[in-house]
Amino acid sequence: MNIQHRLIRAVVALVLGVTTHLAQAQPAAPFKIGFILPMTGQSASTGKQIEGAIKLWQAQNGATVAGRKVEVIIKDDATVPDTTRRIAQEMVVNDKVDVLAGFGITPSAFATAPIATQGKTPMVVTAAATSAITERSPYIVRTSFTLPQVTVPIADWAAKNGIKRAVTFVADYGPGLDAEKFFKSQFQLNGGQVTGEIRTPLKSPDFAPFLQKVADLKPDAVFVFLPSGQGAAFMKQFGERGLDKSGIRLIATGDVTDDDQLNDMGDVALGVVNSHHYSAAHPSATNKKFVQAFEAANKFRPNFMAVAGYDGMHLIYNALAATKGKGGGDALLAAMKGQVFESPRGQILIDAQTRDIVQDVYIRKVERVPAMGNQLFNVEFDVQKAVKDPAKSK
Ligand code: DHB
Repeated sequence: MNIQHRLIRAVVALVLGVTTHLAQAQPAAPFKIGFILPMTGQSASTGKQIEGAIKLWQAQNGATVAGRKVEVIIKDDATVPDTTRRIAQEMVVNDKVDVLAGFGITPSAFATAPIATQGKTPMVVTAAATSAITERSPYIVRTSFTLPQVTVPIADWAAKNGIKRAVTFVADYGPGLDAEKFFKSQFQLNGGQVTGEIRTPLKSPDFAPFLQKVADLKPDAVFVFLPSGQGAAFMKQFGERGLDKSGIRLIATGDVTDDDQLNDMGDVALGVVNSHHYSAAHPSATNKKFVQAFEAANKFRPNFMAVAGYDGMHLIYNALAATKGKGGGDALLAAMKGQVFESPRGQILIDAQTRDIVQDVYIRKVERVPAMGNQLFNVEFDVQKAVKDPAKSK
């Protein structure tokens, strides 16, 4: 080989080396998570709670996973399902998000499911809780809960604690109908009798006429499900109508004795037995750290929506790490299935078959807790371990 030849080869090698080096140094596009949340409108507290949790997660865990930058986009759907769907479409087509997340109410999750399927985009539901949501798309994974999951344990508790006749009182849409159906079937299975079924409108409900009906029916207990944000108004009217002193016991899912509003409900809430998957007073080290950091960052108490948002971020970070930062809809989905980790609520599992969450459900009583600033909390006193969604495990 003559000198000229060698020189050419050396130059070619150099150029190739430099270009490959440049190609390698080119940073990958950021991994985008598109959260669609109700920041305004009827479920604004859900959006506020989940946004606080997303920010806390990133402050604690950074914005890079396996060398890939993570960008979170949060958009407000104003609690309007048509808006949720439009934003989801824009996020998938224009922003090219890698994951969709959020969904404050069931109709918003239902409206978005076909977009997740078409885009092969994982859709992490961190709030809405109607059982059927995960069946609307094979790309849906849930970190919140299902109404049947948290309702069956309180129906068991009621039957074992002297309640023989109960009236159900639920918001008239997906999660309320789930709660009504699963309370009734489980309570009857345990020998109880449902003597009335009351449904309240989802939008701007006036509970007074429905509470009058409860008073007239005189059951041993009224079982209530209302979505996050309506509990305080319900409790106020329950007290104003003297129902707290009528001998009719109030039992509920924890959506009613919501940590977001509980401390302002006052004495009328004291003693209300309810079932749910998360209490800010859950006595684990992980939860104490979570609540302390959340309150320091946001100046309000985290509720079950915040925890589901925090765990949604955890799930997405774990999945991205499992793909070594590469992502990809199907690879992320596969990595989400079967995940197990410690949440502030206790250990959680994403069931690989149903993509729904498996978790402990606690029976709690509202109490004033002297050791926690004399504030009102849902104090856990019993638990059903690793509860699957009963609507799917049949
Ligand atoms: C749903 C919304 C809530 O605020 C809640 O507490 C439970 C369920 C829902 O729309 O699915």
